[in-house]
This record gives sequence, structure tokens and C-alpha cells, in this order.
Amino acid sequence: MKSVSHPQTFNNPERFIEGWYWAIPSHQLKLGQIKPVNLQGRELAIARLADGKAVAFDAYCPHMGAHLAEGKVDGDGIRCFFHNWKFDTCGNCTDVPSLGKSLPVQIKTWPTEEKYGMVWVWTGETITHPIPCPPELENITIDSSFGNHFLKNCHPNVVMINAIDAHHFNTVHNFPIDIVFKREVISTHAIKFSNTTRGGDDSWFIKLIRPFYKNEGTYSMCYWYGSNGTVTLGPDFLHFYILFALRLTKEGKTEGQTILVTKKRPGIWGWLFNRVVLWLTERVGNYFGKGDTQVFQTIKFDFKTPTKADKAVVDFIDHVEGQKALFWGSWEPVTPATQLSLEKHLASVAEL
Ligand code: FES
Ligand SMILES: [Fe+2]
Repeated sequence: MKSVSHPQTFNNPERFIEGWYWAIPSHQLKLGQIKPVNLQGRELAIARLADGKAVAFDAYCPHMGAHLAEGKVDGDGIRCFFHNWKFDTCGNCTDVPSLGKSLPVQIKTWPTEEKYGMVWVWTGETITHPIPCPPELENITIDSSFGNHFLKNCHPNVVMINAIDAHHFNTVHNFPIDIVFKREVISTHAIKFSNTTRGGDDSWFIKLIRPFYKNEGTYSMCYWYGSNGTVTLGPDFLHFYILFALRLTKEGKTEGQTILVTKKRPGIWGWLFNRVVLWLTERVGNYFGKGDTQVFQTIKFDFKTPTKADKAVVDFIDHVEGQKALFWGSWEPVTPATQLSLEKHLASVAEL
């Protein structure tokens, strides 16, 4: 096994991967509302403007620094509470009431989209990849509902590896089959691990479900940005899709939202059928949480001794290390220069 003892980005509470992160459930942002959101350490004011679109602004007004979530939506823009300066969807100042005109100042806005009943924010200048989606449902209209909202006492990267920690399925979840993953790189931002085994011939449970699987037991996890993962599993005639959407809070902890996904089915019967499918999906999703909860409250992740059974975990860490990293809080890209100045700063602090 190759060494993974000193990753730079993986499990680093100061860093995360540029990508899409969930910001606020859509239903909590009604027409004309503006809400404060701390996302990956950056303060945002997210507004739903008159046309129904959600826009994410940097939070602090370029006049005197008031938090813009104290302000209000005004048609096609927002107005700061303090002196009523107005900003449009691009963040340009379009009105300074005390002057009776605009000023050439700007507040930064971030790419924003809505999917799965959630407002998502892209943490970079230009969107280069899509919002996480189960690979089988790409370009398909979907139906979804929310599962659990949860907190974990460790970094999102560490929570994410649970889904591909092959041997813990046997030791923690009593699974009767050895799982062996095959890796598939979907893009620079997405990597998929799929089970390749059948086995489990001694298990009554496996004998029971075997007729529903033509090939190996379907179980795969596709990761985006090191912090979002979609699990696909279930018999050939009905796959379940669960999106685990995590974000990094202060001190390297995890705030997560489980989202249950299925394809949209037509008509009232399709809608009703989907309610049952999504309910079942939630039961399946809860299985993943069962038995693991406590270990994520106390773990001090330190991957000193990788074994053959940890291969997928090592591959995932490598994948995270290869992506574009940003600093938590500032969202500045980690470059060789910023890396060097950070190391100098840390060395000078250590000398004090
Ligand atoms: S602080 Fe925002 S308008 Fe003055
Ligand atoms: Fe688990």
C-alpha cells in the first residue's frame, strides 16, 4: 500500500475542494426574503429576488460593512439596511440614496442554482462541473425529498470514506459478503467506486435477494468535491439513490444533509409511487448511519497502517489531493505561493 500519511488537503480543517455546496433549503428562502448563511467559513447573504431566483452575495456591504442579510429585497436587487444602497444580481451598486445616483462599487456574488429543494452555491468564479447527481440519473428529471440533517465530530472527508471502507461492512454492519471495489474516474471532480462481488452463498438473506440481481450486488458510491457522495444500490428492478451532502464547519467538523432521490414518474400514481420509493430509500439510508454514529464522535483520523482492504479509501484520498483546494473562510485557491507563505507564517508562530 502506498503511503497516505501526509495528505495536504484531505481531512485538513483549513481547506476544501472548489465545488458545489448546499447553502439553504429552498423552502426556507421565500420570495422577497434574504438570509445569512455561513458556507465553508464565508459569510453570505442569500436572497430570493422578485423573479424567484436565488442570488448569493458576500455578506458585508462595501459602504460601511453592514451585514446585507439585515437588509431587504427590492425588486431585481437588494438594499442594505443601514443607508439603503442598492445592489443588483451581479453585485453592482445601482443606487446610493444620499447621492441620488449609483457608485462604481461592487459586492461579490457567487454562482447559485437550485436542485433537490436546496439552494447550492459554487465556491469559485466559474462553474466547471455540475451539482452532484447519481450517475444513472444524469440528464433525467428527478424527484427528491430530504432525509436526516446531521452533525459529526470529524471532517467531511472522513465521514465520506465510510461508504467505501470495505471491511467495516462486515465488522460493523454484519454484511455477509466481502466487498471489493472497482474505481472509475468520472471527471477531475468525480470518482465512482462500485462493488464487484457476489458471494455470500451461506447467507439466507443473500439467497433471498439473489434472484433480483443479474450480476454482482449493486452498490456504488460516486463522490464529488470530496464532500458530496451519491450511493446507488438495490435490486435490478428498482435502484435507490441517496445523496450525502456534507460541508465543513468550524474546527473541521461536519454538517450534513441526506437527500433521497429517484426519477420523476408521471401522473398522480407516479407521484404516489415515488413517495413510497423515497420513504423506502430513507429506510435504506438509515441503515448506513446505524452502528457507525458513535465512531464519528470520537475518531481522531490517522491512517497510519493501510491494508489491502483499504485500497478504495487510499484511492479516494489520492483523488481529493488531486483536486483544486481552497482555503476555508477566504475561498482563496491554495497555490504553491500561498502554501509557502502559510508554512512561513506557521513557522514564525511556532517560534514565538
Ligand atoms: S453600510 Fe450598507 S449602505 Fe451603508
Ligand atoms: Fe458504515
